[in-house]
Amino acid sequence: MAEKFYITTPIYYVNARPHIGHAYTTIVCDAIARRQRMLGKDTFFLTGTDEHGVHVERAAIAAGVPAQQWADEVSAAFRRLWDRLGLTYDKFIRTTDEEHKRGVQEMFRRLRDRGFIYKGQYTGQYCVFDELYVDSAGPGAPCPECGRPTETVSEENYYFKLSAFEDQLLRHYQQNPQFIRPESRRNEVMSFVRSGLRDLSISRSTFKWGVPVPDDPGHVIYVWLDALSNYCTALGFGSPHKADQERFAKYWPADVHMIGKEIVRFHCVYWPAFLMAAGLELPGSIIAHGWLLFEQSKMSKSRGNIVRAETIVDTLGADALRYFLLREIVFGQDGSFSFDALVQRYNSDLANDLGNLASRTLTMIGRYFSGGVPAAASQARTEADDNIAATARHAIGEFNRWFADFQFSRALEAAWSLVSAVNRYIVENQPWVLDEKGDEASRARLATVLYTSAEALRIVTALLHPVLPEATRRMWAQIGLNDIQRVGPQDLAWGQLQPGTQTGKVEPVFPRADKSAVERMQTMEEQGRGSSQEKSLATAAGSSGATAQPSASQPGNTTPSNKSTAATDGKISIDDFAKVELRVGQVKVAEKVQNADKLLRLEVDIGTEVRQVVAGIAEAYTPESLLGRKVVIVANLAPRKLRGLESNGMIVAASVGEQGRPVLCGFLEDVPVGARLK
Ligand code: MSP
Repeated sequence: MAEKFYITTPIYYVNARPHIGHAYTTIVCDAIARRQRMLGKDTFFLTGTDEHGVHVERAAIAAGVPAQQWADEVSAAFRRLWDRLGLTYDKFIRTTDEEHKRGVQEMFRRLRDRGFIYKGQYTGQYCVFDELYVDSAGPGAPCPECGRPTETVSEENYYFKLSAFEDQLLRHYQQNPQFIRPESRRNEVMSFVRSGLRDLSISRSTFKWGVPVPDDPGHVIYVWLDALSNYCTALGFGSPHKADQERFAKYWPADVHMIGKEIVRFHCVYWPAFLMAAGLELPGSIIAHGWLLFEQSKMSKSRGNIVRAETIVDTLGADALRYFLLREIVFGQDGSFSFDALVQRYNSDLANDLGNLASRTLTMIGRYFSGGVPAAASQARTEADDNIAATARHAIGEFNRWFADFQFSRALEAAWSLVSAVNRYIVENQPWVLDEKGDEASRARLATVLYTSAEALRIVTALLHPVLPEATRRMWAQIGLNDIQRVGPQDLAWGQLQPGTQTGKVEPVFPRADKSAVERMQTMEEQGRGSSQEKSLATAAGSSGATAQPSASQPGNTTPSNKSTAATDGKISIDDFAKVELRVGQVKVAEKVQNADKLLRLEVDIGTEVRQVVAGIAEAYTPESLLGRKVVIVANLAPRKLRGLESNGMIVAASVGEQGRPVLCGFLEDVPVGARLK
């Protein structure tokens, strides 16, 4: 029976549309899953969406739609994108699936029945954004995870005895060096656990959008216990059906949980402790990768610096995005995305190196041998041919070694060492000159050179299949072969290309991208903010548009205006005024913008979401003085970029004195965040 392999992505929150940061994790897992299948493993690849919690509930309320409807729309957007990218997940789980909810309740019951859950009272600080209790902080103190101000709450909760697992966890980390990777993350986790673990609150009674605690429906289960359990429930954990139980028994424990570095603690401390308490086996490896940065900071919705995968797929194809992410980013570290770098990599590695190797080899076989792969003539063999075979063997070994170690960039370098060697070999052996000579010895040599090139092309095509599935499928067919997805390790041995194989029609697999590609993608990104996908999410979020990306606070510009609707006497109607969406916001993050004396970058909570706004108020206000302050924001302005940062709204201020000093608008009485000004 084939060995099993189970790999998971995090399940993505449904409060943001998918961007290439989410695509990065999912593509990495897809490449690994494809390679495992090629190695003959019985592979299960899981992804999905995380749909409960207070953020989602709030977004849905603000949008005036039921939470389920909201979750349905955003979850579908993720799934559509994964399908468009051709990702080969075996299951897409949603935490609102009935089977999942049943499984989470079963997990809770198990922890309770085994004596690891008790009821207690909590009064203290809570970070709504991270769904985290911050025991050590006083009122209004920032969350240690995200820096946003915490809220004071008092509730009766169920607690999980996390503190009971300190020693067991440390022992597990020590005995299983591969459990947390890379090493730097393992060290962080170990010192966190060594510093002492407190019991963890695992229920909430302040909101309803979650899985009810069994036998106590006034409480919902903590979102992270709910979300982490997906890795088990997706296989059938908690199901009464035999087939589900068998699937769970077959694939659990996971071999790889792939995650971004910001959710290491949840996966490497809480999750193994839950599993230990439930008497379930622990996953093999939890692998934390770095962040994809755009314009120097983590790509994320609240920063407004996201890039959509659709833009790249439309312009260069899904394989170009896959190749870039795996080749350019050193896995485990943060890496920058830019359209320039993407196009440069695409042109140099794919269009030039690999694309040329394929088209010149196959074109010459077409021209000199009527499209039939020639047989290498043993009397015409030279050391150069043997060197190519040896280079291929070495490249396969290196590729496999690095890939298995999650060093994708190095694995691809190894594959490219073969591509470059064959391109050099072709130039040095000059098949076109051999053809012109036309004598028998030259003809034999020509056949050998082209067989060697085609065989190397076949091997590199098979090797790259997990990374470039669509392009290699086409290249495989052009070589004249069938079913690349059935290729296994045994097919990589040198010399298996059968002479006489009839090559297919040669078509460029990676047409060169011209300079305008960068501009085109940048424009698509700008326009994408008004695209149909974006609009449908924005509609679901209400008039403020939870996913819309509106504009900057303009330095010195203190009141909203709407020229197009102004009446001739300078007055506007009440309807025109109603078009301006003014809302109460609260400053959660404030920092100076580098090399801009007047600008501050703010993250402002407007009730439904946290918006990034760039405001020209740095000369009048220090960042610290703004933290926690309530402000008025024009929430439906079109987006604008200032110093490369996207600004999604405008802060309202009076303009005072000749210098136009900004004085922020505020209220004498307390007003709730998100309230609309009318
Ligand atoms: N719902 C939780 C995870 C629960 S798993 C049981 C969550 N969701 S998330 O939508 O915020 O997605 C987080 C994951 O998306 C990251 O861990 C990472 O895998 C991926 N990424 C999101 N933005 C990213 C970047 N800018 N760069 C790299 N990965 C990114 O946390």
